[in-house]
Amino acid sequence: MASRKFQKWAAGFPLTRGLVRREGEAMFDLLAGFCHSQVLMALVKLKIPHALMDGPATVQELALASSVPPERMEILLRAGVALKLLKYKRAGRFGLTRTGAALVGVPGLVQMIDHHDVLYRDLSDPVAFFRGEVETELADFWPYVFGGDMDPAVAATYSDLMADSQVLVAEDTLRAISLMGVHKLMDVGGGSGAFLRAVGQAYKNIDLTLFDLPEVAPAATHRFANAGMESRLTVQSRSFKTQAIPFGADAISLIRVLYDHSDETVADLLSKCFDALPSGGRLIISEPMLGDTKPERAGDVYFALYTLAMRTGKARSAASIGEMCRDAGFSQVTFPKASRPFVTRCIDVRKV
Ligand SMILES: C[S@@+](CC[C@H](N)C(=O)[O-])C[C@H]1O[C@@H](n2cnc3c(N)ncnc32)[C@H](O)[C@@H]1O
Repeated sequence: MASRKFQKWAAGFPLTRGLVRREGEAMFDLLAGFCHSQVLMALVKLKIPHALMDGPATVQELALASSVPPERMEILLRAGVALKLLKYKRAGRFGLTRTGAALVGVPGLVQMIDHHDVLYRDLSDPVAFFRGEVETELADFWPYVFGGDMDPAVAATYSDLMADSQVLVAEDTLRAISLMGVHKLMDVGGGSGAFLRAVGQAYKNIDLTLFDLPEVAPAATHRFANAGMESRLTVQSRSFKTQAIPFGADAISLIRVLYDHSDETVADLLSKCFDALPSGGRLIISEPMLGDTKPERAGDVYFALYTLAMRTGKARSAASIGEMCRDAGFSQVTFPKASRPFVTRCIDVRKV
């Protein structure tokens, strides 16, 4: 395949030229990926999809509203069309495609894109990044991973981002795993309680316990009050690094928690969960994971690099997390099929 002579022949031969073209396009997409991401980021930072929710607009209108010279705005908008986020409408106007509208509507997506400048700075010298020579900024964006004191304003920023992006994770987790038969669920590392509120809405008889750091957990209470669920909520303001997980729940969930932490912390946390559960108790794990034997784009490219930039944790495959659960004492581990692996994968674990 590396021979120029063979490439020229294959590009012209009728049975192979379609394949050659598709492979060329795929290679070009990889090469241009950074430009694609930056177009997406510019559209989001300039709030162009939000502006177009009110209806199509011209280059001039968008340029004026964004303080971008019109000839440069046109380049950005055309790039948006090429990436299928925008489309041409009548009278020289630009509007949103379905994907462009979803960008505004999918909870947490805009906020995730908005904080990616931090990740991209960390990745700007990829060789130094993979050599471990970059003092990454992303870890400071998510300060809880190092433990210690946290400014309440900082805690609120990341709790909001987590809560916004939790909606899809909760949907997919509850689609993959049934909580029928559970009486009391404790969400460890539950953040602002978005997952517990989704559980509370889907299952009217489950008591809900939120376990998180003292800087984070208490702030969730008013969100439960707003949802009319405060009477079902117990808050445990603790650290799983230094304290035990209390008894009393017949199910524990760990939603997007393990990938923030080292193998030692995860092994310790899993064995604390095992100790806290009664026999027959369940552990539900949900987070983006690596492909098992087959690396895949979301887990092995995005989440693997993201967690590497965070410095303390790592993305793991479902099989390796399952193995860690068995090491902690759990004997039944099942892997429901993920409907959107780029959102989350689940593991359903039982203590027999
Ligand atoms: C990535 S966030 C996930 C939050 C929530 N489960 C979700 O999916 O939206 C990780 C959560 O773990 C919590 N956490 C981190 N270290 C912790 C510790 N030592 N003890 C308790 N909670 C911790 C953080 O405060 C944060 O709310």
